[in-house]
Amino acid sequence: MCGIIGVVQERGEVASFLHQALKRLEYRGYDSVGVTTISNGEIHVKKDKGKIEEVHRKLNLDDMPGSIGIGHTRWATHGIPSLFNSHPHFDCSGKIAVVHNGVIDNFMELRKELAEKGHHFESETDTEVIPHMLEDAMKTGMDLEDALRLVTDRIEGTYAIVAMSTSDPEKIVCTRDGNPLVIGQKQGANYVSSDIPAFLPMTNDMILLLDGEIASITPDDVKIEKLDKRARIEREPIKISWTADQAQKSGYPHFMLKEIHEQPDAIRNTLRLRAEVIEEAAEIVKSCDRVYLLAMGTSGHAAISGRHMFTSLTGIVPTFELASDFSDTVCDALSEKDCIIAITQSGETTDTISAIKYAKRFGVKVVAITNVVGSSVTRLADHTIITQAGPEIGVAATKTFMVQLTALGLLVLAVGEKSGHRKREALQKKRAALETMPSIISEIISRNEEPARRLAQMLYDAPSLLFLGRGISIATAEEGALKLKEIAYNHAEAYSAGESKHGPIALVQDGYPVIFVAPKDETRNRLIGNIMEMKARGARIVAVIERNDEELRTLSDDVFIVPESVEPEFSTMAFVVPLQLFSYYMAVKKGYDPDKPRNLAKSVTVL
Ligand code: AGP
Ligand code: GLU
Repeated sequence: MCGIIGVVQERGEVASFLHQALKRLEYRGYDSVGVTTISNGEIHVKKDKGKIEEVHRKLNLDDMPGSIGIGHTRWATHGIPSLFNSHPHFDCSGKIAVVHNGVIDNFMELRKELAEKGHHFESETDTEVIPHMLEDAMKTGMDLEDALRLVTDRIEGTYAIVAMSTSDPEKIVCTRDGNPLVIGQKQGANYVSSDIPAFLPMTNDMILLLDGEIASITPDDVKIEKLDKRARIEREPIKISWTADQAQKSGYPHFMLKEIHEQPDAIRNTLRLRAEVIEEAAEIVKSCDRVYLLAMGTSGHAAISGRHMFTSLTGIVPTFELASDFSDTVCDALSEKDCIIAITQSGETTDTISAIKYAKRFGVKVVAITNVVGSSVTRLADHTIITQAGPEIGVAATKTFMVQLTALGLLVLAVGEKSGHRKREALQKKRAALETMPSIISEIISRNEEPARRLAQMLYDAPSLLFLGRGISIATAEEGALKLKEIAYNHAEAYSAGESKHGPIALVQDGYPVIFVAPKDETRNRLIGNIMEMKARGARIVAVIERNDEELRTLSDDVFIVPESVEPEFSTMAFVVPLQLFSYYMAVKKGYDPDKPRNLAKSVTVL
């Protein structure tokens, strides 16, 4: 949600960099855009609601002087998307510029106070109190850094704030609490952003900024201090292994399609994780009495699939909870003997972070699975597994889902070794099967692209679709339905096939599409019963089946084929791929941009 970029360099203009960096942050989801620069003591600003390129066509974002600037893509929380609500926001003199991600909970009270003192507000946003408060503080003689310190004493909520002022025109000041900010460092230029891809073409050296810290950034220095302690914190940059190319479409029409195709490599790279990383996570999980899997959205579906892997291979039956509801569900029935496996590709999802913070109050141990080095979750967790998908730009998660499943597979196998629930040889066979997944997924992609495109031609205007599965395939069905809703906007629901006859079957009439996830596992015969029930009511049966499943091929109207004998614990990895492709082609057929679905953000940083 929202993208922030700031740059200060020794020489040269920053406007077109800001423009391109915001484009690299587009995937985060936004409704308005704005940039501001300082040149010769003057502030320049261009902003409006709408897509970056629309605003650029109208205002020419590349034509702004100055070697320091900040930019923002806004995902509105307070006030409609409009020119006036777009960031940056300014103080009364127009000399202090601020961009902000997050929510200032007590903005009403602060705004009233400031208005009474004579401040004039141009927007309905919560953000705008910040530049006015900075203005008041700076009037007392403080510099921007101290003024920002003072502001953070008064504001409540979650935020990443980046500010600059004509009174110190070579410096960007920023702070965070609960929302992401990372710093990019290079000779003669420094950057600050909500996410790494924004500055990847310029540098791979990233410095973390933690909650409660403030950074002053000039072309040749990054000074970090705690908000409440004036002592410089020396922090070495981390080398990011991602490349700028990975964040390009590289000839694909959309990031989503590229990322679907990158899944075999993403699995391969995740399988190469150091054994100790998995071992340490397994040690924590094995030593606990209760295991909770927590996540949201697609990561939640990885968790549900992971729960089946755990049950089958370790004898541990973890509880899956949506992170957003965790504290309400468990109340205070937690202890230091419990552990959480938190799954979040971005590492920044506020629902997940809040659940972790809540659990930590009871001494619960936390293992995190995330794709982003240095993200908030990595700092909260006792131990982190970093998946190796590389940057995922499409809002709809695909390759990060695949690597979450891979990491869960590795973790489950390591816990299984310790629990002794299955024989060592059986676990070794599963491990070998996991190693073959990259080539299996490659084959599935190439076999199913055309069938997915064809089926999309036929079903694109279906007002509603059901996705059904049993056992581990419920997770697969849920992910298939979510992808379709997210990017093609067809109503889709996923159910346990067993549950489908207890209500959803009432929806079914002639031609109603029902999509079955049908591996040849122990659920198959019962699933065939559910297929027959749906067929009897005129449903159009689409099934994801194994290559040699002649029986289901005959029963179905349309099929997607995956190779036979995928191990049941890893079946989600295989069976989800045709459903990803199907959603992608449904969105394309309907003329939607699958990379930027409406109303959605890549990382959801509000509760
Ligand atoms: C996935 O396609 C969605 N964009 C969304 O459901 C996502 O999985 C969810 O917001 C969780 O994100 P996270 O993995 O970064 O925590
Ligand atoms: N709450 C602020 C607004 O509505 C910031 C939103 C964002 O994070 O983009 O403008």
